[in-house]
Order: sequence, then structure tokens, then C-alpha cells
Amino acid sequence: MTRVFSGMQPTGDLHLGNHLGALVNWVRMQETADVTYCVVDLHAITMAHDPAVLADRTVGLAMQFVAAGVDPDRSTLFVQSHVGDVHAQMTWLFDAVAGVGELQKMPQFREKSEQAAGRNGQVTAGLLTYPVLQTSDILLYDADEVPVGEDQRHHIEIARDIGGRFNHRFGEVFVLPKAIFPEAAARVMDLQDPTRKMSTSGESDKGRINLLDDPDRILKKVRSAQTDSGREVAYDRGDKAGVSNLLEIMAAATGRTIDELVDEYADGGYGTFKAAVGEAIVEMLRPLQARHAELVDDPGEMKRLLAAGADKARAVSAPTLQRAKDAMGFLPAA
Ligand code: TYM
Repeated sequence: MTRVFSGMQPTGDLHLGNHLGALVNWVRMQETADVTYCVVDLHAITMAHDPAVLADRTVGLAMQFVAAGVDPDRSTLFVQSHVGDVHAQMTWLFDAVAGVGELQKMPQFREKSEQAAGRNGQVTAGLLTYPVLQTSDILLYDADEVPVGEDQRHHIEIARDIGGRFNHRFGEVFVLPKAIFPEAAARVMDLQDPTRKMSTSGESDKGRINLLDDPDRILKKVRSAQTDSGREVAYDRGDKAGVSNLLEIMAAATGRTIDELVDEYADGGYGTFKAAVGEAIVEMLRPLQARHAELVDDPGEMKRLLAAGADKARAVSAPTLQRAKDAMGFLPAA
């Protein structure tokens, strides 16, 4: 059976990019594959973070996964730091295989280190070795496939490179994974600045649709999305970045093709089109929001599910770590 692994950072509430880029595939893939999904809290401390909110955000993120349709009975759902000894030790072993040069070239390292420097913050060593921890996450679970948004492409490639190099030097220990992207909306752009991806750290909340935003707020944000001065609804990522982003979002939300949508809305003006996009998003999120309202009352139950998930995750990852240590020649503990 195909094995799947993916994770998200508890850095804030999920947005439409997380949902369409990754979460929709997470839910779909649990039908046919052996899936493991992780709240990657160890990844969330590489930029200055607030200790007072980390734990709540961690449980809150798991709730949003379940609200979106991740089924804790059919998946392994866990918190990375609960199996942190395994993930961190594996990272150290991979640190001995990864090159500083390839890590420095990662686009996310460049962006985030500029951001940190801009805020007078420190560029931490964790920012540099972040992809090595991500490599551990994926390879510890023998994942064949990793459903992610387009921005994670380089991180999955480096996981393959590091795993391949390890296998070459020490013997075949690791499965080399491939990234799975959605057909439409693999890179959802900010509604106010469609040249930048939608992100939790985006300057203004107006450019981001949070999965838990109420319907009015969603409709308003889409209505005020930045578009060009023309009238025609057409797909052109270069000249019509804003409209094209909305077309991709609507295609992903409704399952219709971009061509169909262009045919229907081409001449109706932006107002009509934006109203339809807003409605499509609201409809898509309605069941998720209803489930979330039920889950939020019982964080204790979520924590119990996560504890059981950590046991299941450890049962897979600890033996993989042991295989890696054996291959590297460490003295087994007597
Ligand atoms: P993170 O937490 O930034 O994002 C979680 C997921 O959401 C996707 N995503 C997007 N997709 C489309 N458009 C967007 N605007 C958008 N913004 C975010 C991301 O591609 C991702 O799939 N390094 C990872 C977390 C991670 C991980 C892993 C992922 C740690 N270990 C192992 C996969 C496997 C990250 O920061 O994602």
C-alpha cells in the first residue's frame, strides 16, 4: 500500500492556500493509502515564536485537520515533538549527510533569513537545517508520496537528495518520496498582492482567507481582491495575476475546469465573477466550519487522539531510525 506523509506548522490558523494546496489531497489520499499527518511544532520555532500560544495552536491545528476531513481512525495523526527524540536524532544523522551549500540555496532559507534580519532577529541555525528535519519527517515513515503545495517542491527534492546520498553511502535504508501537487491552486496567491503567495505571515489579513473566517468576511475579502483595470475574466498568470488566482481558487473549490469558468464568466464583469468565487469558497468551507464548531468544545478528546497517534507514529519511525543507525555502524545498546 502506498505510504503518505505530510505536515503543517502550527504558526496560525489555516488559510485557503493550506487547504487547496495540501489539505484537500490529504483527505482524498486517506481513502486509498496508508497516511500519516503531523503537526510539525518543532519546525515552528525557527522564527521567533510565542511560547504562550504554541500548545494551543498545536491542538487547534489538529482540530482544523479533523474538521477538514482527516479521519483519526484511518490516519495516523500526531504532534512532531511527541516523537521528538526520534525526529531530532534522525535529523542529526542526516546533518552528517546534508551539505551546507545546498541548504543555503533553499529559497525558503533565503526568504526567511531576510525576514529575520529585517526584524532585527537572529538568523538561527534552525532556519538553515529546517529542510533536514523535514527530510527526517518524511523518510522516517517510508513515505512514497508527500501531498504539499508548490512552495514545498524544493524541500521534497532535497529530501530525495539527502535520502539518496545516505542510501548510496550506507546501504538501502530509505524510500525516496515524490511530491504530489493539486491540479489547480497548487500555489494560491495573496488576494491583495497576487504576485506573492497567500501565507500566514502575509502583511495584511485582507489578502488571506482563513478557513475559519465567517461567510461575510470571506465574501468581503474576495470582493475587494485586487484585479487589473480590464473587465474580461481570462486566465493569464502574467498579465492577469489577480483574476487568474481567483479562477484557480474557483476551479479547485468547485471541481470545474478553468476553461469552463472562463466561458461562463468572461463577459459578465469582475463583480459578478467575484461574487461567484466568494460563494464557492463559502460553500466549500461550510461543512468544515460546522465540524470545527463541534470539535472546539472538547480539546481533551483531541489531545487523547494525538497521544494515541504519537504511539502509532513511534511504532513506525523508531525502527526506521534503528535501521539507519545500524547502517551507519553504531554500537547497538546491550
Ligand atoms: P507550511 O506549514 O508552511 O504549509 C502547510 C502546507 O500548505 C501548503 N501551502 C500552500 N499551498 C498553496 N498555496 C499557498 N499559498 C500555500 N501556503 C502553504 C504548503 O505547501 C504545505 O503543503 N515545511 C512545511 C511543513 C513540513 C512538511 C514536513 C511538509 C514539515 N515537515 C514533511 C511535508 C512533509 C511547511 O512549512 O509547510
